[in-house]
Amino acid sequence: MSDRLSDFPVTFHNRQYAPLMVGGMGVNISNDTLALAVEKLGGIAHLSDALLMDIADKQFGTSFCKDKIHRFKNLIDSYDKSEIVFDLERLAESTRRYVSDVMRRKTGRGLILINCMEKLTMNASTATLKTRLNAALDGGIDGITLSAGLHLSSMKLMQDNPRFHEALIGIVVSSTRALQIFMKRAQAVGRLPDYVVVEGPLAGGHLGFGDDWAEYNLEDIVRDVVKWIGDNGFDIPVFAAGGIFSGEDAVHFVRDVGAAGVQVATRFAVAQESGLPEAVKQRYIDATDDDVQVNHFSTTGYPMRMLKDSPAITSDIRPNCEAYGYLLQKGECSYVKEWFARHGKIDIQPVPEHSKCCLCTHMRNFKVWTCGASVSRLKNVTKRRPDGSWQLPTAEEVWRDYVETECQHLPKAA
Ligand SMILES: Cc1cc2nc3c(=O)[nH]c(=O)nc-3n(C[C@H](O)[C@H](O)[C@H](O)COP(=O)(O)O)c2cc1C
Repeated sequence: MSDRLSDFPVTFHNRQYAPLMVGGMGVNISNDTLALAVEKLGGIAHLSDALLMDIADKQFGTSFCKDKIHRFKNLIDSYDKSEIVFDLERLAESTRRYVSDVMRRKTGRGLILINCMEKLTMNASTATLKTRLNAALDGGIDGITLSAGLHLSSMKLMQDNPRFHEALIGIVVSSTRALQIFMKRAQAVGRLPDYVVVEGPLAGGHLGFGDDWAEYNLEDIVRDVVKWIGDNGFDIPVFAAGGIFSGEDAVHFVRDVGAAGVQVATRFAVAQESGLPEAVKQRYIDATDDDVQVNHFSTTGYPMRMLKDSPAITSDIRPNCEAYGYLLQKGECSYVKEWFARHGKIDIQPVPEHSKCCLCTHMRNFKVWTCGASVSRLKNVTKRRPDGSWQLPTAEEVWRDYVETECQHLPKAA
């Protein structure tokens, strides 16, 4: 039996793919360039749908965000942001335009999926989620990965779309319990997910755990989810995610733990094609374990893993909800509350400590340096230039390293 990941293909729509997904990395880190580079190799990659109005503006010269600021600029000094509503037609237009542009540039060898986070509540969670999901389908996306939430209504929100049964749909969970709840709703609309991503406590981005995240173990959760799926007579491939750093790690999950594949992100975040600025990629590769923390600076309510010196943490910028506002819920965001109180614009006693950041703005500007727990291992697989800087790998090099490395250190399967 072979020890290469490529020898354990996963099948979608009767076609085989190497069982490796490049995970969604918002905002615009898993961008069009990275996704297309992986797709060209016959791989599976994600786009992210976070802040797509802003990304469309940068990419196509549209003015979705500028127009939004213009519409709501009178609310800049107002603590109550409940009047900030997204124009659903424009939200759909930006998503369709972005997605269809990427899909037009595909080679057809691989798959391009989009990561949709439920936690982007956008001051009208159900209406905006419905718009984002359906616009991605209308734009021709190969599949949607539902993340950052239980997505209890997402299948229903897409069920009238003509591509509902054609596109792949997957869900990210961190426990069997979360999957069980989702599956009940999926069964109710007669549409089961095509894949499940189990994201463990070592992942980058937001964690689906509380502060006790370190007590959990990805392998245990994957085994439990795979067992539950099998015991209940379903046939759904499970992708393990979080801290899977090498081809060897990946083969272990597929061969010995029961996963059908893996989803990885941190190693691709520093690939030449990813959307992160060069200086941030260099910072990631320099990182040691001591530089990483799981904190609560995100306004989503989920803990997030990031480098301790992420500029967002100490920043005191005015909230930018008029331009973005992706995390507003009923007119509120915890950073807005904190900022207005700390600047004496509303009276809250005691004045809150600085404990949140303006996540939309700082993710957009690459000032939240979120990473997986394995970030400190990047330096072990990256070449150093004579001037001390790191020679960034191409996405192809990272992809081949996962997919084609012979895993000699693993005991051979019986
Ligand atoms: C820079 C970065 C940004 C991320 N952004 C998102 C995101 O927007 N949505 C999401 O569901 N997961 C996000 N993740 C999680 C990844 O998709 C992936 O599941 C996880 O990081 C895999 O673990 P690894 O980074 O150790 O390979 C992000 C991860 C990283 C490293």
